[in-house]
Order: sequence, then C-alpha cells, then structure tokens
Amino acid sequence: MKVILVGASGHLGTEIDKLLSPDHEIVGVGASSGDVQCDYTDVGSVRAMFAQVGTFDALVCVVGRDSTFKPFGELADDDYRYGFERKFLSQLRLLTLGQEYVRDQGSFTLTSGFLSHYPNPSSIATGPLNSAVDTLASNVAPLLPRGIRINVVSPAPVVELGQEGKGVVTAAQAASFYAEAVLGDMTGEVLRPWGGLPTPPSSDCGYHGSTLGTES
Ligand SMILES: NC(=O)c1ccc[n+]([C@@H]2O[C@H](COP(=O)([O-])OP(=O)(O)OC[C@H]3O[C@@H](n4cnc5c(N)ncnc54)[C@H](OP(=O)(O)O)[C@@H]3O)[C@@H](O)[C@H]2O)c1
Repeated sequence: MKVILVGASGHLGTEIDKLLSPDHEIVGVGASSGDVQCDYTDVGSVRAMFAQVGTFDALVCVVGRDSTFKPFGELADDDYRYGFERKFLSQLRLLTLGQEYVRDQGSFTLTSGFLSHYPNPSSIATGPLNSAVDTLASNVAPLLPRGIRINVVSPAPVVELGQEGKGVVTAAQAASFYAEAVLGDMTGEVLRPWGGLPTPPSSDCGYHGSTLGTES
C-alpha cells in the first residue's frame, strides 16, 4: 500500500511510520521535512504535493502546531481562525483535493483529539474544532465515491513510554489506532485512544433515516 503521511516527522507521525513502513510504502510529508514538502494550509502547495506523489492508497494526517491554547478570556478571532484553518479546513482540503488521486477503496484518516469531550480552561480554540472534524467524517463518509473511506483518530494527550495511564497514551498506542483505520474497512468512524476514559457511542452524528437532503 502507498501511504501519504502528512506530519510524518512529528510525535504521532514517527510512530505511525515505524508501524506501517515494514509492510507499506510511506511517503512522508512535512512543512519543511519529509520526502515531499507541503504546507497543508496552502491550496497550491497541496495540489503540487498530490501531483508529485501521484496515485496512493491511503492518506494519514497528523500535522501538529495546529491550534492555540490560551485561557478562554484571552482568545480572540485570530486564535479561532488559526485552528479552524489548520485543524478543520486544511485537513478537509487533503480530502477534497486528494480524492482525484486516491485509488478505489482508498482511505483518508484525519486527526482530532479528546479535548472535544474532556476540555480544560485553555482548550476552547481546540476542542470544538476536534468535534467538527469528528462530525465531518460521519457526515461525509456516505458521500464518497468508489469505496473511498474516511475516519478520524482522536488521541488523548501523548506521553512518553512508561507514563501511560488513565486519559493519556503513548504515541505507539495512538499509532496502532491509525494503523487500524488504514488497514481496516470501517468508514465514518472516530477511533478514540483515550487511555481508558469513557468514550461516546460511535457514529452518533451520521445520517439518520430521512434526514438526508433536509436543510436543518
Ligand atoms: N501530541 C499530543 O499529545 C496530541 C493529543 C491529541 C491530539 N493531537 C493531535 O495530533 C496531531 C499531531 O500531533 P503531534 O503532537 O504528533 O504534532 P507534532 O509533533 O507537532 O507534528 C509536527 C508535524 O507536523 C508537520 N507540520 C506542521 N505544520 C505543517 C504544515 N503547515 N503543513 C504540513 N505539515 C506541517 C511538521 O512538519 P515539519 O517538521 O516539516 O515542520 C511535523 O511533521 C495534531 O492534530 C494534534 O492536535 C496530539
């Protein structure tokens, strides 16, 4: 399988690379590192990356530095805009522009995070955007052609080996959920390595009966 790993040099990216590279061809992408350089916030840069890499079977996005942490009272428009542009819009862009290059039955795996459900006083420009990414997967999954799949991994905070426990995970633990999303056959799902913390039911924001096509 040819796997584009956007954010390959990061905490999560490094472990996903380790896990998948023995059996799959990994194309590592970073803003300034990797096999191919691409700024995922820039449409032209993303188009050029896909044109350079060509057809692929799976894309995983684990780009860091993608949101702002400040007390709620200090957050301003630009802080929310920063996170929206990266966490939501740039990940969505990888899907919209990548569809042309992904093979039949290929997949996209995006990243959110458990701050959607376990907020702290400085996470308000992050957690709600994680929820948006989760919802994107379940809403768009039924609309993708050619058996293309989309899933999200929502990690808990990543800690060093030996420090894992309730509500925290190692990068290797989180990486195994990305591998599951790439190698499995699920779509529209949010996989949650939350270190044993309670998780919401899966697929709780997909289409329900006749709501498809309505405007509410
Ligand atoms: N780490 C955690 O505790 C944790 C917990 C929950 C969720 N998450 C989420 O998981 C994701 C990855 O986290 P991480 O800790 O692995 O991040 P990280 O270590 O900071 O990842 C950095 C990677 O992102 C790439 N990158 C940064 N800006 C980019 C851009 N504009 N375009 C393309 N690539 C860019 C970097 O490339 P260069 O090195 O070339 O700049 C590098 O490969 C984030 O969405 C984060 O919110 C992380």
